[in-house]
Amino acid sequence: MVRAASRWLSARPSQNFLSRQGATPGTVSRFVDQTDACAAPGWLSAQAPVSFSEIAPGDYHLPVFPAETAEWMAAGEGKFIIDGTLGGGGHSEIFLKTGARVLGVDRDPEALAHARKRLAPFGERFSTWEGNFSALREIPEIQEGARADGILMDLGVSSRQLDSAARGFSFMREGPLDMRMGPSSPRTAADIVNQWPEADIVRILFEYGEESKARRIAGAIIKQRSIQPFKTTLDLASCIERAIGRHGKTHPATKTFQAIRMAVNEELESLATALAAAPHILKPGGKLLIITFHSLEDRMVKRFLKHRSTPFLDEPGWPEPKPNPDYQFQLLARKAILPTAEETSLNPRARSAKLRVAQLLALKS
Ligand SMILES: C[S@@+](CC[C@H](N)C(=O)[O-])C[C@H]1O[C@@H](n2cnc3c(N)ncnc32)[C@H](O)[C@@H]1O
Repeated sequence: MVRAASRWLSARPSQNFLSRQGATPGTVSRFVDQTDACAAPGWLSAQAPVSFSEIAPGDYHLPVFPAETAEWMAAGEGKFIIDGTLGGGGHSEIFLKTGARVLGVDRDPEALAHARKRLAPFGERFSTWEGNFSALREIPEIQEGARADGILMDLGVSSRQLDSAARGFSFMREGPLDMRMGPSSPRTAADIVNQWPEADIVRILFEYGEESKARRIAGAIIKQRSIQPFKTTLDLASCIERAIGRHGKTHPATKTFQAIRMAVNEELESLATALAAAPHILKPGGKLLIITFHSLEDRMVKRFLKHRSTPFLDEPGWPEPKPNPDYQFQLLARKAILPTAEETSLNPRARSAKLRVAQLLALKS
């Protein structure tokens, strides 16, 4: 099942990373590297495949804010929840356990295959849809008029994607410069670093990575690729390290990898489209829960919800406030919810997570 679902990845140009891949350290790599063999038979065929049934859920991805998402979503029997970022299925399982029906959406066929297997015991209450959450309105059930009691979007990549060398998300693991969340992503990281004009690389590093050394890094990429195109994550990571040096604990390639990943998957564009679509997919009273991991995403969600939850607009030149035609939501939590110290100690990836929660008003037209 996993092998079949992941064939899109093996369609990438074949590159042999076996010699260095085998040395990947770390506790999860036993699962990660073996599963990579399934995900990318063309690249890693010498490694033994692993069945997902051997992987405990925590080896795939530990969901953030488990208690808070359960509480704010208030799922239950008779409720219909859309999990727009299914991943390992952790949040979906929380909702399914309340008796709700869940539709899990993901761009990644491997995530869908894993979650289908994990959540099979819930029978027909769990279904999946492969695609970008920006296209939730295209889901047949939604087109036929179904509306959800809740939508969750837990943004970014899963631990499983990040830790899989063959996916190319990590500057710590040798892999192809891919970084696509799924086959619908329009380009790979290699396309960007080997083909994009310098000015566009500078722009994404500034905009998506908030990287102050964007020009220096882009210059080094252009120089390096004129000698030899980039092939691997470590080629790129070491080029960046040579260009800007290593200072402090954070790896110098961190912001560049984030920026390239966001450009590869058009993450902010997808989020903007999904936010605008949410009022058309939710029932009046339906909940919108969004978990972000960096300031750009959170800023977009915060501004969207602030505007859509403001009944009247006012500007200095106006004689009086005017009704806001976009007033659709009520903020259930005025500020972003942050993880508890207990959660961050159990799950370090939760450190930068923020949860925002709103409810569609009944006055929806
Ligand atoms: C942080 S993980 C979600 C983890 C999940 N909540 C769990 O409990 O395991 C994000 C997942 O959403 C998917 N994803 C991210 N952006 C997406 C998008 N625009 N459309 C569809 N899926 C997306 C990724 O492929 C990944 O599997």
